[in-house]
Amino acid sequence: MRIGVFCSGGDAPGMNPCLRAIVRSALASGHEVVGIRRGFQGLLDEDFYLGPEGKPLLGLRTVSNLSKLGGTILLSSRSEEFRTEAGLKKAVEHLKKHRIEALIPIGGDGTFRGAVALLQRWDGRIIGCPGTIDNDLMGTDYTIGFATAVNTAVEAVDKLRDTAESHERLFLVEVMGRHSGYIALYTALAAGCEVVALPETLTDVPHIVQHLQVLKARGKKSIMIVVAEGDEMGGADILNGQLRKAGCPFQTRMVTLGHLQRGGPPVPSDRILASRLGDFAVQAIEEGETGAMAGEINGQLVLTPFAETFVQHRAVPEELLALLKVLSS
Ligand code: F6P
Repeated sequence: MRIGVFCSGGDAPGMNPCLRAIVRSALASGHEVVGIRRGFQGLLDEDFYLGPEGKPLLGLRTVSNLSKLGGTILLSSRSEEFRTEAGLKKAVEHLKKHRIEALIPIGGDGTFRGAVALLQRWDGRIIGCPGTIDNDLMGTDYTIGFATAVNTAVEAVDKLRDTAESHERLFLVEVMGRHSGYIALYTALAAGCEVVALPETLTDVPHIVQHLQVLKARGKKSIMIVVAEGDEMGGADILNGQLRKAGCPFQTRMVTLGHLQRGGPPVPSDRILASRLGDFAVQAIEEGETGAMAGEINGQLVLTPFAETFVQHRAVPEELLALLKVLSS
């Protein structure tokens, strides 16, 4: 078979090791792999990664040393054109023209929505790999890139805690996650933060200020608040203003981590997840599966239909929220 692979949407650490696994597993089983650059847009532009001898096929050596490399050598994008009827038609034409029989997209919910639309017009097979730092997809315990993003955020919060402690300040640290509070909650718990503001829970400013007063009375010198960018209050800047207005007992400073969380070498757990899911996606295609995302639940590799991965908002674990409250004393 000729399998096309691409990365789409926001990049995530671990996309490269996932690509490596897909290429090595597919070649081991006698398939050919075409690397499509810049996601769905690359399919419309016939923009292929040139492998050995300048051919648009990926070879064993094309993916050497990718385990430790952040970002994606295939490049990524969000394509407006692909969402149009004309764009989808062109994508199908190009798939047929280049004799691509199956696709493995690595991306998040937007990527899988695109895959669903494509499958309504194309009879090839598509199995996706969850590549997003947000961990907002159903059908896998963790998405590729989440662990690295949390690691990066925790390192940043640990450093900020040092200066917060010296100056007896409160820091609001805004993390990514789009509409999900997963990165924020995991970061807050791992870095021993006092408060977390998530889209999944109500951010009650008077209650937070009251809690801060209690903590100050108990001798706390510094406070770290992790704010998910999608928090209903509107992010760290707005929450900072609200806290000050409500009589926050600490001097405050604010940091937005932003795209820092998307870069850097993937941590080992992301490399292993990426390798397992990439290989599993190839196996699933060989077995005739299509229209689903490869994921890992309780250590088991599973397929989940694309639509089920994004229709529902993935709730953050209640027990971790409760634990953070107990520990932030
Ligand atoms: O989906 C990954 C993500 O990093 C989100 O956490 C964030 O909201 C968004 O992408 C940022 O997108 P962009 O790179 O287009 O600014």
